[in-house]
Amino acid sequence: MKQSAPLGVAVIGTGRMGGDHVQRITRAISGARVAAVVDIDKARVEELAAGIDGCSAYTEPEAALADPAVDALLVASSVQAHEAVLLAALERGLPVLCEKPLTPESSAALRIVEAEARLGRRLIQVGFMRRYDRDYQSLKRQLDEGRYGRPLMLHHQHRNPSSPSFFTSPMTIQDSVVHEIDVTRWLLGEEITGIRVLRPTPSTGRAPEGLTDPQLVLFETAGGRLVDTEIFVNCGFGYQVRCEAVCENGTARIGDDRGVVANLPAGGGAGRHGVDVLPGFEERFEEAYDREVQAWVDAVRRGETVGPSAWDGYAAQAVCEAGVRAQELGGERVAVQLAERPGLYS
Ligand SMILES: NC(=O)c1ccc[n+]([C@@H]2O[C@H](COP(=O)([O-])OP(=O)(O)OC[C@H]3O[C@@H](n4cnc5c(N)ncnc54)[C@H](O)[C@@H]3O)[C@@H](O)[C@H]2O)c1
Repeated sequence: MKQSAPLGVAVIGTGRMGGDHVQRITRAISGARVAAVVDIDKARVEELAAGIDGCSAYTEPEAALADPAVDALLVASSVQAHEAVLLAALERGLPVLCEKPLTPESSAALRIVEAEARLGRRLIQVGFMRRYDRDYQSLKRQLDEGRYGRPLMLHHQHRNPSSPSFFTSPMTIQDSVVHEIDVTRWLLGEEITGIRVLRPTPSTGRAPEGLTDPQLVLFETAGGRLVDTEIFVNCGFGYQVRCEAVCENGTARIGDDRGVVANLPAGGGAGRHGVDVLPGFEERFEEAYDREVQAWVDAVRRGETVGPSAWDGYAAQAVCEAGVRAQELGGERVAVQLAERPGLYS
């Protein structure tokens, strides 16, 4: 790799997240440039590439992997397309930042873990961006310092104003709660061993037919801690993510007030004092995405791989699978089965 030149990144998949990452690398990230964009949508990549100096457009990931201007990959394609690109990148020794979830099934994620372990060095970072959010990082630091004593429980809340029309109940676990799964493993430093899913009757009238919403997802961890997540993807009022750690000597919570506290007059009645709720995850985690991509670029330029690993991606996927089974079983505990962790990830 040309250490002094900017890192040439191929962005694979240029939909909602990939398109954002292209803009991010172009505008906000130092030490990197978009060298190629790849999508099965030919018109979209051609239009994107036309606006970026020295950027090639491809419809096949393999073509970008073979491009000598490409030093690293940012994978943001539909999740079904992740495995093939990741295995090809490992074969070529190319570093990758792969959007979560790593793969749709844990068996595919395990194949990636095994391939990277055979290689004997980490090349894959998984896009669990909450680990780069300043509030989550402060909470993690304070828990690690022991400021509140031993953590006993975590309470998470994950609320979206509305869900897309294609969103299903399993997707509430695989696409949404997967973030709480990763944050739980990261904050507590231990694996999740069991999961159950409860739901109130009735669901909100805002949820489309067939979608269970809200739900309460309960994890047990290897150290016996209990963790609950309220997932509510049609709450109506905005995007809100909170996390509270309940510890032996106190509690610590993040997510209450990101934004301006305002006093507002209300037409005729009482005024309003409060914080505006952000509309979506892009606004809430915009800075975290920037910090995640910058940390990845900096590490790759040093010849390192940091951040959430392929093992983290695999473990999260195994919990998701148990969670979807737990949804089907309606309240029963489902054990999480994990393969043996290769030494590369210890
Ligand atoms: N970290 C987060 O907070 C976050 C948020 C949203 C989405 N995501 C993840 O980002 C990824 C993309 O999600 P999205 O919302 O942008 O989806 P999207 O549907 O908007 O975009 C996916 C793109 O991938 C393209 N694609 C599909 N197969 C391809 C292939 N074989 N090669 C190249 N391109 C291909 C599609 O044409 C599409 O443009 C998913 O893994 C998703 O879970 C992460």
